[in-house]
Amino acid sequence: MLADKDRIFTNVYGFQSWDLKAARVRGDWDNTKDLMARGQDAIIDLIKASGLRGRGGAGFPTGMKWSFMPKEPKPDRPSFLVINADESEPGSCKDREIMRHDPHKLIEGALIAGYAMRARAAYIYIRGEYIREAEVLFAAVAEAYDAGLIGKNASGSGYDFDVFVHRGAGAYICGEETAMLESLEGKKGQPRLKPPFPAGAGLYGMPTTVNNVESIAVAPTILRRGAEWFASFGAEGNRGTKLFQISGHVNKPCVVEEAMSIPFRELIEKHCGGIRGGWDNLLAVIPGGSSVPLVPAAQIMDCAMDFDGLKAVGSGLGTAAVIVMDKSTDIVRAISRISYFYKHESCGQCTPCREGTGWMWRVMERLRTGDADVSEIDTLQQVTKQIEGHTICALGDAAAWPIQGLIRHFRPELERRIKERGGDLAPMMEAAE
Ligand SMILES: Cc1cc2nc3c(=O)[nH]c(=O)nc-3n(C[C@H](O)[C@H](O)[C@H](O)COP(=O)(O)O)c2cc1C
Ligand code: SF4
Repeated sequence: MLADKDRIFTNVYGFQSWDLKAARVRGDWDNTKDLMARGQDAIIDLIKASGLRGRGGAGFPTGMKWSFMPKEPKPDRPSFLVINADESEPGSCKDREIMRHDPHKLIEGALIAGYAMRARAAYIYIRGEYIREAEVLFAAVAEAYDAGLIGKNASGSGYDFDVFVHRGAGAYICGEETAMLESLEGKKGQPRLKPPFPAGAGLYGMPTTVNNVESIAVAPTILRRGAEWFASFGAEGNRGTKLFQISGHVNKPCVVEEAMSIPFRELIEKHCGGIRGGWDNLLAVIPGGSSVPLVPAAQIMDCAMDFDGLKAVGSGLGTAAVIVMDKSTDIVRAISRISYFYKHESCGQCTPCREGTGWMWRVMERLRTGDADVSEIDTLQQVTKQIEGHTICALGDAAAWPIQGLIRHFRPELERRIKERGGDLAPMMEAAE
């Protein structure tokens, strides 16, 4: 179990104040000028050496991402850092805890990351529904300006850096990085075709890096405590500590910072008081937010909760939003509900996603009640394959994967429902031939 002394987010439960005075006592903004004085490339190298991978879902190495930004921005082409605080993936609820209880970690991280990538300003894009979180964030940014920590000559470093907070209007697709840039520019939030990638042409056509809240908020502590310290947690390629968000059928759902690669069983036993009704009652787990495939009980028990461990069982770490389902769950209904979400949130630009998400949801609803033909399970599987990888953004994949996971692991349950309802037409058709 991660020792308290190794926790980055020491106020994640809000037992202390979020304000600047309390944040300073926790060690934030402690000689930030010195951290910056190490130099831009040295900071990027240190983040690379720490092994930090993006906490927004895809797990792209953070230091490498920063290194794609221009080393000498032209005066008429400023660079920007955009911080993704949209957090709309069902099950995910970690960035909100950072913003409402530890906002200065994020703001200090914005300055350090922005400085390292030679950005002129950071835009924090916060989802519309996070009203209280936005209030705290606005107030914390104002405090940081008043104290001279950001703005002109930020923290006395000689570097000018602004931080803007922008409230979204509550659309899941605006969490996709290029849709977020469109939305920031005041347009309809629809993903852009890539290339060009944001580091070449991002916000207002300028070089831009988009990072998740957690990826940015951990940066100052990594600088203070060292790359080796951060890299001492987790398996090779999966370094660091991580905020896990455990919901569903556990005795005590919670958000907790743990070492990466902690086995699932240990995570649940130590922090959530076990599975409701005991371990034999566990049915399946969606380990990384609604877009990743479910993992059945037997396969998840001893699985390492990290990028590679979950990939090995056909799923993914995603945002580390762990949705636990016990045997009382109607698993087909649960996945059908997720399909409805993706249908609702599709921006409609690409035909496979616009038409496919609705089509898949309608079939899922019939599979839920058993009002289908067994052959439709294969048709549904094929359609998920036609959507996956054939769309502008990964929402198409996100809609396909949960269904693929259901078919892979719960096909007998789908067939049972169809047969019980007497809807299996295949034998009748064979007899007719
Ligand atoms: C449909 C969709 C929704 C997304 N929503 C979020 C989100 O709410 N928060 C987030 O950090 N990343 C989200 N992402 C991932 C971002 O596009 C991007 O990869 C991420 O912000 C990069 O940050 P990181 O490198 O620090 O992980 C989403 C991606 C897609 C395709
Ligand atoms: S995959 Fe879906 S959400 Fe993404 S751009 Fe295409 S239509 Fe829009």
